[in-house]
Amino acid sequence: MEYKKLGATGLSVSPLCLGTMSFGRWIDEQASVAILNEALEAGINFIDTANYYGKGQDVEIPYGTGAAEEILGRALKGRRDNVVLATKVGLAMGYGPNDAGSSRVHILREVEASLRRLQTDYIDLYQIHHFDPRVPQEETLRALDDLVRQGKVRYIGCSNYKAYQMAKAHAISNAMNLERFGSVQPQYSLLVRDIESELLPYCQEENVGVIVYSPMARGMLSGKYNGPDDVPPESRAAHGERMIQRLFTPRNFRLIDKLKPIAQQAELPLAEFSLAWVLNQPAVTSAIVGATKTQHVTSAVNALSVKISDPDLKRIDAVTAEVDGLV
Ligand SMILES: NC(=O)c1ccc[n+]([C@@H]2O[C@H](COP(=O)([O-])OP(=O)(O)OC[C@H]3O[C@@H](n4cnc5c(N)ncnc54)[C@H](OP(=O)(O)O)[C@@H]3O)[C@@H](O)[C@H]2O)c1
Repeated sequence: MEYKKLGATGLSVSPLCLGTMSFGRWIDEQASVAILNEALEAGINFIDTANYYGKGQDVEIPYGTGAAEEILGRALKGRRDNVVLATKVGLAMGYGPNDAGSSRVHILREVEASLRRLQTDYIDLYQIHHFDPRVPQEETLRALDDLVRQGKVRYIGCSNYKAYQMAKAHAISNAMNLERFGSVQPQYSLLVRDIESELLPYCQEENVGVIVYSPMARGMLSGKYNGPDDVPPESRAAHGERMIQRLFTPRNFRLIDKLKPIAQQAELPLAEFSLAWVLNQPAVTSAIVGATKTQHVTSAVNALSVKISDPDLKRIDAVTAEVDGLV
C-alpha cells in the first residue's frame, strides 16, 4: 500500500479508507470486525466513522446511536495507534434543539461521547458532518480549535461543504489564527460528479485533502440493481437504506447501462472499474469504501492497481454527456 499525504496536514493515509456506516446497522459486530481486520491486513490505515452511524437510521429511530463507534472502540483495543481514526459530528443524536448541528455546545458534548465510545483519548480527524447554516462558522472553528489545543483532536475536516463554504471557513481560520479544515469529505462517483466544477479545483489549488464517500454510489455501481423495484434481497436497498433511493433515478440507471460495456471491455467487474475511476482522479486523496462482506474489501484493494486508460476516460465522459443531454 502506498500512503498519501492528506492535503497540507502531516497525516499519511491509505488511498482506500474503510467506511463504517454499515457497522451495527446492516451487519452485526462479528461481521463488522471481520471487515475491519481484512482492511487492516491489506494495509488500509484510514477508518471513517461518525457519532451518527449505527442501527436505527433507516426506520426505528431517526437519530444516531453511536453503535459503529462502539464496535470500533472494542475492535481497535491494543492497536488504536496503528490507524488514522476519523469521525464526524453534526447529525441528530437526539430530539432536542441542541442535539444536532455544529454549535459549540453540541460539538463539545459530542466529542466526549465519541472519545468514550471509541475508547481513545484522541481523534485523528474530527469532521463536521454537514454545513450548519444556523451557526456562525467562527463559533464552530473556535470550538474545533479548542479541541486541537486540548489534544482531543489532531486535525479537523468538514464534509458535504460547498467550495464557497470551505473558502469562507479557511478565510476565517486565517484571519482569527484558528486551526484550518485540512480535508473535505464529499460524495463522488461516476454517477455524482458535481464537485468537479468548484470543490475539486479549489482543493487542488489550496492543497486540501479530499476524502470521497460512496465511490460506488452506495452499491449501485456494482450493477446489482436493475431498477428501483428490482433489488437483491441481501442488498442495502432491501435493508431499507433511505439515501440510496435518491440515486434510483432513470438517468442513473441509463448511465449504468452505458458504463457496463466499457467495464466489460476493460475486463473488470463494474464495481472495481467504478472505484478505480475515482481512485484515478488526481484531486482525490482517498476513497471511503463501504463494505458488508470481506470480499468487498478484497475487491476494493484490487481496484487500487487498475489504471483507467485515456480512451476509456473519454468514453465515460462521452456517455455521461449523452445521458445528460449535453451532446
Ligand atoms: N459524509 C457523509 O455524509 C457520508 C455519507 C455516506 C457515506 N459516508 C462514508 O462513506 C462510506 C462509504 O459509503 P458507501 O457505503 O455508500 O460507499 P460505496 O462504496 O459507494 O458503497 C458500498 C456498497 O457497495 C456494495 N459493494 C461494495 N463492493 C462491492 C463489490 N465488490 N461487489 C458488489 N457490491 C459491492 C455493497 O453494497 P451491499 O451492502 O448492498 O452489498 C456496499 O455496502 C460510509 O461507510 C461512510 O463512512 C459518508
